[in-house]
Amino acid sequence: MAIRNIVTKESEQLRKKCRTVVSFDEKLHILLDDMYDTMVSLDGVGIAAPQVGILKNVIVVDLNDGERLELINPLISFTDGTCQELEGCLSCPYQWGLVTRPKDIELSYVDRHNKHKTLKANGFLARVIQHEVDHLKGVLFIDIVDKFLNDDEVDEYMKQREK
Ligand code: CO
Repeated sequence: MAIRNIVTKESEQLRKKCRTVVSFDEKLHILLDDMYDTMVSLDGVGIAAPQVGILKNVIVVDLNDGERLELINPLISFTDGTCQELEGCLSCPYQWGLVTRPKDIELSYVDRHNKHKTLKANGFLARVIQHEVDHLKGVLFIDIVDKFLNDDEVDEYMKQREK
């Protein structure tokens, strides 16, 4: 396992469409483990393969609840509702903004052993998954942000949310 370098928003690599995973081999498992370690080292809750320079449809999510979710070849099949929440991105350091996305989602994907799975998600998990799926299409949250917030506004937003 190893921590890999994060590709930041200036790179063209983050603008490419990722490829479908077809080999569920040791190389994929190492990529998944490295993505997880890299994400945790940066206090992230989600990471997509292009963020470590690999243009494949691979996502790792961990909302600090101890459940590590590995989504390979994810496909969002259903969305419902909308909500606006604060987002940031490991590839866009020091940037925060309000983004509107569907509230509830359903998706299909395969795990590291190519086993087919489905998942229903809402709330923060649905948001993180959609943010990461966007990465696989070359889309960053700064492309679809409603409004950027500065540090003071982020503090205020967090305070309001705790109330
Ligand atoms: Co991101």
